[in-house]
Amino acid sequence: MPKNRLITRRHALHLGLGTLATMGALANSCSLNRQLPVKALDDSEKSERDLMVVRDAPLKDHAAAKGLIYGAAALTYYLKQDEEFAASIAQECGMLVPGLELKWKALRPSPDSFKFGAADWLAEFAQTHGMLFRGHTLVWHQATPKWFKEVLNRQNAEKILLEHIAKVAGHYAGKMHSWDVVNEAIEPDHERSDGLRNSRWLRLLGPDYIDLAFRATAEADPKAMLVYNDYGLDNDTPKDEARRVATLKLLERLKSKGTPVHALGTQAHLWAKDSTALNFKKLKTFLRDVADMGLKILVTELDVKDNHLPQDIQTRDRDVAKAYEDYISAVLEEPAVIAVLTWGLSDRYTWRSHFPRKDKAAVRPLPLDKQMKRKLTWNAMTRAFDQAPVR
Ligand code: XIL
Repeated sequence: MPKNRLITRRHALHLGLGTLATMGALANSCSLNRQLPVKALDDSEKSERDLMVVRDAPLKDHAAAKGLIYGAAALTYYLKQDEEFAASIAQECGMLVPGLELKWKALRPSPDSFKFGAADWLAEFAQTHGMLFRGHTLVWHQATPKWFKEVLNRQNAEKILLEHIAKVAGHYAGKMHSWDVVNEAIEPDHERSDGLRNSRWLRLLGPDYIDLAFRATAEADPKAMLVYNDYGLDNDTPKDEARRVATLKLLERLKSKGTPVHALGTQAHLWAKDSTALNFKKLKTFLRDVADMGLKILVTELDVKDNHLPQDIQTRDRDVAKAYEDYISAVLEEPAVIAVLTWGLSDRYTWRSHFPRKDKAAVRPLPLDKQMKRKLTWNAMTRAFDQAPVR
């Protein structure tokens, strides 16, 4: 059977589970009595863009109605201590992604130990709430443990990498919807002809570390969808164009060598009011080129930066929401896109707060606000899902 048909069947299975999960959580959601911002904009703005919603169902339901997955990244620490947040994640999301817990730094306190506790807790949380679970990430140049520096060398790097993947992907085998096997391997600024990042893994093992990682993951978990994940693929800038070109080159190389890669993950950390920098025609052509290789596409880490917008919350939320609606509507025109995941769900917990605004006002990059209330972005997302073609 050709590989892309396998992916389609696997995807159908996962969606089936997701839809069931969705129905369970819909029943729960009624008790949460959430306030929906049905009046999305003031009257003067309504003529410009109507961001009203009509259906008070969780995001995952709007997505699932089109055969899509909606989910978010979250951390064990916050889910454990914040019931309100945990309830919102369970209510809105059909998929859960560990924000930190599966990175080497979290999993590997020492060269010969594995610390699965926090990630296992998340896997259990996902299962309890009928959510799909996805792995992030097996190979990345960041979030590496301190011991890498002293221990890793050309002689042992391959063994250590393969051992890690066998153990970690093996630990979750059969439970993972998908794995970001390799994250952010491209950096055109490093000026290699293949566009690859001059990372520690590349220096120690050469460009084939990527193939090695995919093969090892396929062996450890033959059912998971294996994803190459990267950022900076969105904008109409020479740098992002170079990233798109390098990504296509990498995926083509992997495919031509029979490396088991099934999907591209595009992180999509966007800026609001980026209409000049986003060129949807180019973006869609890129996604089509990826799809033409028989690959699926996941939007893996969507959020929208508001650092440069005026402090006024109404203005900011409207511009952020517009960016969400425009981006999601455009990418969902590509049928190979099967999932839209945000990097966090509520502005209460967002990595973007590590990059504060100059005026110190809290950033608002996500669908729910700090009070766990649905924002205009939530409306924008449901609208984009509702208008998307069925998968
Ligand atoms: C981020 C986490 O959200 C932060 O908490 C952490 O401090 C740094 O990493 N791209 C990725 C994610 O692939 O793993 C990053 O997550 C955000 C950017």
